[in-house]
Amino acid sequence: MGNLRGKFITLEGIDGAGKSTHLGWLVSRLRAAGTSVVSTREPGGTPLGERLRELLLGQPMSVDTEILLMFAARAEHLARLIRPALDSGQWVVSDRFTDASFAYQSAGRGVPAERIRVLEQWLHPDLQPDLTLLFDVPPEVAGARMAGTGNALDRFERERVEFFGSVREGYLARARAEPGRIRVVDAQASPAIVQKQLEEILINLMNH
Ligand code: TYD
Repeated sequence: MGNLRGKFITLEGIDGAGKSTHLGWLVSRLRAAGTSVVSTREPGGTPLGERLRELLLGQPMSVDTEILLMFAARAEHLARLIRPALDSGQWVVSDRFTDASFAYQSAGRGVPAERIRVLEQWLHPDLQPDLTLLFDVPPEVAGARMAGTGNALDRFERERVEFFGSVREGYLARARAEPGRIRVVDAQASPAIVQKQLEEILINLMNH
């Protein structure tokens, strides 16, 4: 008997990897296949979470505050959106989740991973994404993409290339540790080639 719970997909990568572009394609592709999908993001995804996002992206703060606010937003997201949607059989596609805390706050900012693990165990000991797509690009490429948009950069996007190098390594280390869940996508390729990679991964997921 298959269970009726929906599947949980998360998108990760350093800023400028292009995951927002691919999120739209991914959601349309799943809907075209007849799947009921909720598209959301972190930090954010709920009214309170979006207010916390504004603070997180704009306001200087200590790294402990940053971690706790990320997880406060996540607590709200899990309770009000992610869990109810999955329980009702909908699929959830989230632009970032807890892997981002391991990559940015631990690998990027140097906080021991154990601190993040404690909060993960508190909030979602029972829940992991069914699939995590890691959009991988060198930080120099990502930086050029961000600069090219002409948009004002937020508090994270203003970090140095060395910071994104550490974040990227953090993500890749997690992908090596959990190759079944985290699929690395070469995001340096053209959008069409990236989508081809995604298509293959999705077909696999939809058949399981
Ligand atoms: P991002 O998802 O890249 O949104 P946009 O494409 O609109 O800029 O922005 C969210 C930022 O938050 C990103 O720089 C990474 C950061 N972040 C963390 O540092 N830790 C986390 O746990 C999460 C969810 C995000």
